[in-house]
Amino acid sequence: MAIQWFPGHMHLTKKAIAERIKEIDVVIELLDARLPGSSANPMLADLTGHKPGLKILNKQDLADPAQTQAWLAHYNAQPATRAIGLDASQTAPARQLIDACHALAPNRGGMAKPMRVLICGIPNVGKSTLINTLTGARKAKTGDEAGITKLEQRIVLADDFYLWDTPGMLWPRIIVAKSGYNLAASGAVGRNAFDEELVALELLSYLKDHYAALVEARFRIDPIAGLADDEVLDAIGRKRGALLGKGKVNMQKAAEIVMHEFRSGNMGRITLETPEEFAQWLAEGQRL
Ligand code: G4P
Repeated sequence: MAIQWFPGHMHLTKKAIAERIKEIDVVIELLDARLPGSSANPMLADLTGHKPGLKILNKQDLADPAQTQAWLAHYNAQPATRAIGLDASQTAPARQLIDACHALAPNRGGMAKPMRVLICGIPNVGKSTLINTLTGARKAKTGDEAGITKLEQRIVLADDFYLWDTPGMLWPRIIVAKSGYNLAASGAVGRNAFDEELVALELLSYLKDHYAALVEARFRIDPIAGLADDEVLDAIGRKRGALLGKGKVNMQKAAEIVMHEFRSGNMGRITLETPEEFAQWLAEGQRL
């Protein structure tokens, strides 16, 4: 069973982005650094593909640094695209962001031709956090509260730099099964859209192959290399006392523990897909 995710239709969002895009110089797409491919919305690429794009790999503090580098290189190799990694909850990246946009649209700038940027991202990727950090950073830097104008969805980051928040809601669009599992594991998909045990097993399957040492260390369990995924979940449940009685593990509870430990970063810095793996999933025709 894949993830049963039926978000509200995106007709209005699509229409609003299509209208807004005419006056936009650079499109920022916020991605989750732990699952950059899966947290992108393919509809956005269709709508904005002709505009220069800045990919922000957010939550990089939770992601595997080597894989973040690999994803940054992957995006930076694409035409009219730049990519930066960010921890929106910590850093104030206004300068980095402004510089990257100017590099992408060098003919914009100054009061006569202000830079016009649209920022997009699926829910939970950290868009509000980033916007708050950006506006807060500006306030802190200049001490001038009037310098931050949030007019409707427009944020004035500098006199000649306007940032528009995406109109409407940009739901994730799951196009391959593995993306669904990764989105569910990250918390981007509503809880009632998936079976937590199934998602935890998929997650453990990936972690077993790529981050076994982190799992073993976090849960203090024996080496997991030769175990089946449900045996790993069982070992974790047992270790954490998620029991039903008669020594049987409460797999649902164990699944919740695994997801919580992953989402909070307690297991360590983990990325759930490499650029190559993601490309392979698409190519393998796992499209839903
Ligand atoms: P959104 O507007 O795109 O929907 O996302 P939002 O900013 O609300 O961020 C979602 C959650 O992700 C928040 O956690 C926020 O603190 C966290 N977050 C955002 N950026 C980063 C980052 O760069 N690093 C880390 N580690 N966390 C980040 P929350 O308030 O605890 O909400 P939740 O855990 O209940 O989802």
